[in-house]
Amino acid sequence: MSTPHIAAEPGDFAPAVLMPGDPKRAQRIAETILDSPRLVTDVRGMLGFTGTVDGQPLSVMGSGMGQPSATIYVTELMKFFDVHRVIRVGTCGGISPKVHVGDTIVAIGAHTDSAMNQLRIPGVNFSAVASFNLARAAVEAATEDDTVHVGTIISRDHFYFAPDGQTQRLADYGVLGVDMEAAAMYGVAAECGREALTVLTCSDHLLDSSSDMTAQERETQFETTLRLAVAAALS
Ligand code: HPA
Repeated sequence: MSTPHIAAEPGDFAPAVLMPGDPKRAQRIAETILDSPRLVTDVRGMLGFTGTVDGQPLSVMGSGMGQPSATIYVTELMKFFDVHRVIRVGTCGGISPKVHVGDTIVAIGAHTDSAMNQLRIPGVNFSAVASFNLARAAVEAATEDDTVHVGTIISRDHFYFAPDGQTQRLADYGVLGVDMEAAAMYGVAAECGREALTVLTCSDHLLDSSSDMTAQERETQFETTLRLAVAAALS
């Protein structure tokens, strides 16, 4: 069976899928954490793998960058491949002064400047929220690690543009960071009656460029992000 963007057979995907933006990262994650990973789709180079973790099936697939791309893949996974849980594992820009480069964010809600969720229910500002059960499982796995933050992010459409003063205003409202996919994924999960969560490593800080880390430090913290995402996926 094929959808426009996924060529796989029914049953090729596990009920839970980890979704980094970058398909090459999906491959690295699959090769690192899955037992017996197999490639299940590669349309447009958007690689998807399925294997097991401790005997439980788990898939890993790229989402691409931005809310339209993420929406296409999550919609097809949930509507045509019976995927019940999507956990985005990615990077974000830091916004809150509490968040440092290398820290992990569990995004329980995602503000957005995108119109994608605005179109869903006429006259309604849709609340893009994570699955409570998935968020709880991720937070429980963090066990009081003070480099793990739980709160809201913003999913922006622009990477290189923001209205003057908007980032500072978001910081004033306690927004932890910025990505480009979470809000749309939460919208698709709501549409499909399924579950979604986003767990992010802060790769740079929009309001504090002094807090850079080494590549080694970033990789170590990505391990925390991945560990929390896997705990949520298999909970
Ligand atoms: N926006 C801005 N900076 C970032 C992002 C983003 O989506 N991701 C990582 N750094």
